[in-house]
Amino acid sequence: MRVVLGVTGGIAAYRAPEIARALKKKGVDVVCVLSSAAEEFVTPLSLRTVTENPVFTDMFHAAKNPGSKVEHIDLARNCDVILVAPATANVIGKVAAGIADDLLTTVIMAAEKKVIFAPAMNKAMWANPIVKANVEKLKKLGYIFTGPAEGVLACGEYGAGHIEDTSVIVNAVLASAKTKASSKKKLS
Ligand SMILES: Cc1cc2nc3c(=O)[nH]c(=O)nc-3n(C[C@H](O)[C@H](O)[C@H](O)COP(=O)(O)O)c2cc1C
Repeated sequence: MRVVLGVTGGIAAYRAPEIARALKKKGVDVVCVLSSAAEEFVTPLSLRTVTENPVFTDMFHAAKNPGSKVEHIDLARNCDVILVAPATANVIGKVAAGIADDLLTTVIMAAEKKVIFAPAMNKAMWANPIVKANVEKLKKLGYIFTGPAEGVLACGEYGAGHIEDTSVIVNAVLASAKTKASSKKKLS
């Protein structure tokens, strides 16, 4: 089973290597796609080391090399589930609006697979009616949300917005994958 782990730019991006490692322990092949904001919080090298796979960050990098595959299509086809953890308010809004302006949002747009968001943000952001409407729209379209949990947030406030526990996220991935056929193809 292969999971594309999309990592976006929130404090909880520090949890992405832990989530990747927990998925690997369950026998899942993990391929990471980072937004450019995510790279401010967690390094591609950490995720590359944990996953033992290349880490993708740039929409046009491979496309500029002659003979290379169309990366966003390849990633979208050759996975079973897309997990976005942590998911920012921004990425949720972009996907809800049909925006595909970087590699991660383009992979999500091109995918016919289950997409799971593990949101993490300040409690006021999570309570924002625009974010709520985006989440409701995506849920109605079949996108899955796990969390956020209540807890002490990075800003020191207490409330809903904490990224969900790793075990809960991993279980959500494993449960959703059972409803999809496995992808056997290898990434180049
Ligand atoms: C220190 C810091 C922490 C942030 N934490 C979060 C967060 O937890 N959740 C969130 O939705 N946005 C957070 N942001 C804002 C995002 O980084 C910003 O919206 C960015 O455009 C997200 O881009 P992306 O969704 O493409 O990764 C944070 C910004 C900074 C500077």
